[in-house]
Order: sequence, then C-alpha cells, then structure tokens
Amino acid sequence: MALFQLNTVLCALLLSSNFLEFCVGGDTLLPNQTIVVGQTLISENQVFEMGFFSPGKSRNRYLGIWYKSTPDIVVWVANRNEPIPDSEEVLLAIAANRTLVISRAGRVIWWMNASGVAANPVLQLLDTGNLVLVDRKNESSPQDCIWQSFDYPTDTWLPGMKMIADIDAGEEKYMISWKDLDDPSYGDYVFRIENHGLSQTVILRGTKKRFRAGHWNGIYFGGTPPFPNPIFNPEMIFKGEKLISMLEPYDSSIFKRVTVDKSGMLYLYIMNARKDKWNIASVYPRDPCDEYSPCGPYGICRIDRAIRCECFTGFAPKSQQDWDLQDWSNGCIRIRPLNCQRGDRFVEVRGVKYPDILQFWLNSSMSLSECKAECLKNCNCTAYANPYITSGGSGCLLWFGDLIDTRDVNEADSKQNIYIRVSALEVSETVELSTDLDKEKEKKRPIKLILISMVSGVLVSGIFNGGILLMTRRKMRATQKKNEDLELPLFKWTTILAATNNFSKENVIGEGGFGPVYRGNFSAEEIAVKRLSRTSGQGLEEFKTEVILIAKLQHRNLIRLLGCCIEGEERVLVYEYLPNKSLDCFVFDQIRRTLLTWPKRFDIIVGIARGLLYLHRDSRLKIIHRDLKTSNILLDGNLNPKISDFGLARTFGENQATARTKRVVGTYGYMAPEYAMNGKFSVKSDIFSMGVVLLEIVTGKKNRGFDHCAHCHSLLEHAWLLWKENKTLELMDECLKDTFVESEVRRCVQVGLLCVQKYAEDRPVMPSVLFMLGTEGAVLPEPKEPGFLIERSSSTVRSCTAASTNYEKETMSITDLEAR
Ligand SMILES: *[C@@H]1O[C@H](CO)[C@@H](O)[C@H](O)[C@H]1NC(C)=O
Ligand SMILES: *[C@@H]1O[C@H](CO)[C@@H](O)[C@H](O)[C@H]1NC(C)=O
Ligand SMILES: *[C@@H]1O[C@H](CO)[C@@H](O)[C@H](O)[C@H]1NC(C)=O
Ligand SMILES: *[C@@H]1O[C@H](CO)[C@@H](O)[C@H](O)[C@H]1NC(C)=O
Ligand SMILES: *[C@@H]1O[C@H](CO)[C@@H](O)[C@H](O)[C@H]1NC(C)=O
Ligand SMILES: *[C@@H]1O[C@H](CO)[C@@H](O)[C@H](O)[C@H]1NC(C)=O
Repeated sequence: MALFQLNTVLCALLLSSNFLEFCVGGDTLLPNQTIVVGQTLISENQVFEMGFFSPGKSRNRYLGIWYKSTPDIVVWVANRNEPIPDSEEVLLAIAANRTLVISRAGRVIWWMNASGVAANPVLQLLDTGNLVLVDRKNESSPQDCIWQSFDYPTDTWLPGMKMIADIDAGEEKYMISWKDLDDPSYGDYVFRIENHGLSQTVILRGTKKRFRAGHWNGIYFGGTPPFPNPIFNPEMIFKGEKLISMLEPYDSSIFKRVTVDKSGMLYLYIMNARKDKWNIASVYPRDPCDEYSPCGPYGICRIDRAIRCECFTGFAPKSQQDWDLQDWSNGCIRIRPLNCQRGDRFVEVRGVKYPDILQFWLNSSMSLSECKAECLKNCNCTAYANPYITSGGSGCLLWFGDLIDTRDVNEADSKQNIYIRVSALEVSETVELSTDLDKEKEKKRPIKLILISMVSGVLVSGIFNGGILLMTRRKMRATQKKNEDLELPLFKWTTILAATNNFSKENVIGEGGFGPVYRGNFSAEEIAVKRLSRTSGQGLEEFKTEVILIAKLQHRNLIRLLGCCIEGEERVLVYEYLPNKSLDCFVFDQIRRTLLTWPKRFDIIVGIARGLLYLHRDSRLKIIHRDLKTSNILLDGNLNPKISDFGLARTFGENQATARTKRVVGTYGYMAPEYAMNGKFSVKSDIFSMGVVLLEIVTGKKNRGFDHCAHCHSLLEHAWLLWKENKTLELMDECLKDTFVESEVRRCVQVGLLCVQKYAEDRPVMPSVLFMLGTEGAVLPEPKEPGFLIERSSSTVRSCTAASTNYEKETMSITDLEAR
C-alpha cells in the first residue's frame, strides 16, 4: 500500500534521528498501532497535528487536533468532558472491535459513535483538520468514511465543517465554548443556527440569547456585514425557508476558523501569509448594540449616538428614572394606546437590524402594500417589513408582541426598513422625528415640517436654515424624551489648571494651529486639553453652542470631546486622551510601520472613511473637516483610527476667514487645488484630503516631501503614473508584502486616485468611497490625472521624533501656491 510504504520511510527517517517515540506513521494510524502521550499524527502537508495535550495550566490530558504551526490553537477535542489526569496511562487505538477508543489505565473512557463497522479500518488526519476513520477495503475501491471528527464540533468551526440545524431529520451540529482556557469541557456559550421558520445564527447562554446575527434576508444575516465578502462566503442549504446547513468551503490557500470563546465572543480568525500568526478578521458582538436587546422592548440601539438607546417614535421610556441613569433594559411603552378599529398608522424606521423574530408570520411572496394591509387586519400585529432584500425588497414579515433587539446597521443603503404600528394620533403630531438620520429624506418633506411647526409653534424661524431647523427639531424631541440633550460638562478653570499642572511646558503634547495641546489628569482619567488661542472674537453663548454641537458628534472613528472650560478670554477644550500616537507616526516610521499589516491598514482606511462619512452625512450637522491629514488621525490602543480636530475649522476657521481674506485653514500636501487657491471648500475638498491620506497609508510615503527623484514627482503624480502603467503594486509599502490582499490594494489605490481628481465634480462622495472600498468586485470609474500643487514655500516637513506626538498641527496661511 502506497501509504503504508510512505509511513515506513518516515519511520526509518525518524528512527535514524532518535525519535523512536514519535514513530507512529505520518498521518495515519493502523489497527494494533497506538498513540500515547508524546506521539502525534501530522496531516500530509503539515497543517494539522493530532495527539494528547494539556491545555494551559491544566495537568489533565485530552486528545485533540491543533495547527502544527500554532500548537496553542486547538480546534477539536475528543474527550472534552472526560479529562485524564497526567498521572495515568492513556492511549488512543483502534480496538479489536474496530472502533476508535481512548483508554485510561486500561479502561475505555471514550469511544467513537459510528453506525457502521469497518472491515479494514484506518484512522487518518487530513489537511482540513478532519480526523477520519475510513474502511480501506482494497487499493481500487473508494474508502467508506465510518466516522469523522467534523461530525462532532467542539468550539471551532473549520472550513469544510457543516453547521446543521435540520430538526426534521434529527440532525444538529453547533459549537459549544470551552469552559476556560485550560478546561475544554462544555462552557456556557453555544453558537448555532436558529430556525423558527425564518433563520438566524445566534450565540446563546443556556436558553438566553447573547447575540443575534440578524434574520436571513435572502443574501446575508441582516445584522452583520453582507456576504459573500473576501473572507466569508458560506454555502447555505435551505429547506423551504429554513436554513438547514451552512458550510464555509475549504480552501487550502487560506487558513481561517470561527471560534466561540469562553466569554461568548465569536471570533473569525485568519492566518497571515507566513502561516505563523492568527489575525482577528471579525468579532461578535462588535459593540454594545450587538448585545441582545440592550435597549429593551420598543427601543432601538444606535451606536453612534451619545445616548445609545432611543424609543421608537410614539413610545417613551417605561421608567424615565431608569432611562436617565442609562439603564435601558426595561425599554419603552406606547405613549398612546392603539386604536385598531379607528385605524392605526405606521412609522418607518430605515436601515435597521430587524427585531428578534419571536412571534411572527411570514409570507415570502407578498408585496409591501399587501403586507401593510395584512398587518392592519390583525390588531395584535405590531410591525411589518420585507423579510428579504432581494428584488428590491420582497415578502411579508409581521411581528406580534414586543419588538426586541433592534439596532441600526452600518450599511449606507440598507434596504432593511421596518414599519412600526402606532396610534394614528401619534403620527400626525410627531412625524417620524426619531428616524431622521437621513437628511436627504428630510428634505423631501418640507410640507410636513411646516405643519409641525404650526402645531408646536416653535419652528418657524428655522425653516429657512437647515442647520437651525435641525437644532430646533432636536429640542422638540428633547422635550419628548428628556435626557437626549445632555449638557456638555463645563469644567472649572481651577480644575483644568490642576489637571495640566498650570499648563506646564512638560505637559505639552502638541502645538496646533488653534493652540497648544496638553496632557492632563483628572483623578483617574487621562485627558487631552486644547487651549485655544485668539478666539476672543467669539461670544460666550456662540462658543458654547458650537462646542455642544461638536460634542454631539459621536462616532467610534471620531475623537471624543468631553467638555470645555471658559474663563475670561480663555477657551479650553477637553478631549479623551489616546495613548498611541497619530497615524503618521506609524505609517512613516521605519519600525512602527511594520505593526500596520495590510488588514490593519485596510481597517484604518475604512474607519477613517466611516468617520468622515459621519461628519459629512450621517451627523445632524454637515461638518467639513478642512484639515484632514495623516497626523490628524489618532490611533487608540487597538490601532483603531479616530479623526481629531473636526469641527474646529467650522467654529473658528470660518470666522477668521471672513475677518481676514484669503486665510486658508489647511496643510500643504492635503489641500484640494480649488481650496488652496480660492479658499473654496466643500465636502469634495475633504475627499481630496482623504485620497491623499489613503495613498499615504498604502504607500507609506508622504505626499509632501515625497522623494522619487527619478522624475521628481509628487506622490500623487507617481501613483498616477504607476497606475496608468498597470504597476499599482509597486506603489505599495514594501513591508506589506507578506500581508497584503492584492484586490484590496488595487481598489484602495484606485479609490485614492478618484478622490484626488483635479476637479471637485470628478471626485466621489463619501458613501461611494465606502462602497467602493468595501465591495469586492465593484466596478470603479477610471480615474483621470489628479490635481497637483506646486509648492513655492520651503517650510520644513516635520518628522516623527519622540517629542512630537498627537495633536500636532501644521495649519498655516497659504499665499504662495500654484496649480498645474
Ligand atoms: C492485532 O493483534 C492481535 C494480537 O496481538 C492479532 O491477533 C490481530 O490479528 C492483529 N490485528 C491486525 C489487524 O493486525
Ligand atoms: C468496542 O470495544 C470497547 C471496549 O474495548 C467498548 O467500550 C465499545 O463499546 C465497543 N464498541 C462496539 C461498537 O462494540
Ligand atoms: C454516543 O452516542 C450516545 C447516544 O447517542 C451519546 O450519549 C454519547 O455521548 C455519544 N458519545 C460520543 C463520544 O459522542
Ligand atoms: C475491491 O473492493 C471492491 C468493492 O468492495 C470489490 O468489488 C473488488 O472485487 C475488490 N478488489 C479486490 C482486488 O479485492
Ligand atoms: C402568500 O401570499 C400570496 C399573495 O397574497 C398568496 O397567494 C399565498 O397563498 C400566500 N401564501 C401563504 C403560505 O400564506
Ligand atoms: C391578540 O392577542 C390576544 C392575547 O394574546 C388574543 O387573546 C387574541 O386572540 C389575539 N387576537 C388576534 C386577532 O389574533
């Protein structure tokens, strides 16, 4: 037998180098052979290894399978609930009755469950991580698989392994977490498919849900990013509406795994190109809104809001006191009772992960209007929606009873819109105010807005100005739900002095265009304090209003403003403090750049894009940053990007711009031509800066001071030339060569070039930038030649020395620039 011969060769090799005890036989175990502690099977291409091990600090032995290159990562355990003390003899063997057994001190403690018995059983460890017992009848006949470890998942879901939820066929396969890092016995959490007519995947603790990936919307689970995507593209098998099996196909070139850990977190890991380290590709729950029902019944969780939980329109907190103390678990109740006979109305909430499907009714062929009629017919129906996003939205899903675990979704154009039943009275008075994330939509309702203004009598002046209108509307909401408009903390001058050691020079961590930044200490918390210079032109109330507006801009990719301080002419802003440096100190640093692998850089790019999208579109005010640059991106402890200094140009720069003509707030190298030359700024000038930042991240080179003197080109020009010659990959930072994903790099460069187009109208807007970055296979427009600036000034380019850290600014007046 070919395999046997191979084993013999291996044995001979091993024998000759004194490894007698390992001499079992490559990837196979034959009858009458045993595996004892210290011996292992290794799959053909050295991917997986199987044998006895002791996890962590444990002194118990288990039979398991792990990656040969990362032996700490155990993907399967046979006797997870039957630990074997290390003092006892243990062995794995194919017993005389041809079943696989583990015996401890001569007593069988674990054996395989198999329906058939093999005539000529052979145990083999495959490169997929599957341990199979096959019946090797003779050379020519195919082998029957009698038993396989893939049928008995532990806490890890491997490509090629099926998750099954076929209750009719009595078959279920799911993951159960380990109890602890050194105890593989059943832990508290289960990751599985849940099938109640409409499918979802869930993490459970006992019978209680911890996390829901959202319902199956025809393409993906509605509460998680769409797939197929570059790292997750499962094959799904349905029986009617029920998902009965899910399998991520095996691909020998990419190692990945999904693991539910002891604390109920679900990780998708990917191995790097050198195959020696695992990176986290995604983790669930991702944030507090992903936890199960953080806002209680009829509440919706919006991760980017200062106060995460809101009640649906027409609902108010069940207990205002609890709500004010940020205990949202009791959720919301109707302000006015429904009146089924007189006819109720529906409030649309756009772009959400649908509430949990506890009591529901499903028809996959009805249209939305039929669905609405169906819901109106039944007085117990609380909401309706299209369950499927296919064909522009299809089918009918009705909810009965409480609406639990609703959250916003990131996808800019999510088609998951739900219609919530409220009293007819409710609708005419409040007109969907709590669904106003989308400004485009608001613009289409001028008539309704004027109507509201007459009902409440406060909004008339606002109608002529979008900004003021929004503010006033928020006030109205605030009276309905009190706690919404949190006052910004006003810090005492003495507190700030104490925190910064009287603005001591030693505490300076940056010098910016709007003033120096100090590091400070509030009892336990570290803060960053920006002392604004020359803002005396601005009145006190005006300053406070602006700062409160900036503080409302809350997003995971924006630095948080914690408060301010006003003392005489002094104006001080207090920010969260980020211990890591700014992005330029990584990207342009010989050593630190290697910390930014390609997946990390891609995450950072997408994070910056999300933050900017929020400033441009999602937030309640449109903010143009005007000074976006690599040194204005700060990194938190996990290297997540946070945009800093947003809103300041609006607050302070604008006033100065009117006071002094031609004063442009911005930085060489990042400014769009029309802004640098004519002071014309718009979201498109920010897009230009975003493009430069993006190209700097990919290339690891500064646009300004870029030294490629073969042709003395700027980075943008260089990028454009290489792109034209189809040599895009030559642009990439060399230290990414082990981690990069070619299609992503190409996409990033193309998007970068589109962002730095000479004419503002040729540049995309932020939602398209995000879409293009995030969509594998998206057809991107062809960029034209970018807009370049020739610098006449010879000011120096700063470098990342130890002393220069966050918050540094290079804002300046620009008078001597020319465009080509
Ligand atoms: C295993 O060993 C037993 C006795 O040691 C022997 O009778 C039997 O034939 C062997 N089986 C195989 C498959 O070699
Ligand atoms: C095989 O033998 C072991 C003991 O040697 C026993 O525990 C197990 O139940 C047997 N399995 C079958 C299918 O007979
Ligand atoms: C074998 O099956 C029995 C009954 O279905 C079950 O109780 C037992 O835990 C199974 N053993 C293993 C090792 O899977
Ligand atoms: C191999 O097995 C097949 C199926 O069991 C059988 O038909 C065939 O005769 C066997 N060949 C030999 C050489 O034993
Ligand atoms: C779904 O709705 C369509 C159209 O109203 C109807 O013809 C069909 O019978 C319904 N199916 C079920 C299962 O109720
Ligand atoms: C609505 O729910 C109540 C209480 O659960 C039940 O008694 C009643 O029959 C339901 N009505 C309809 C129309 O389903």
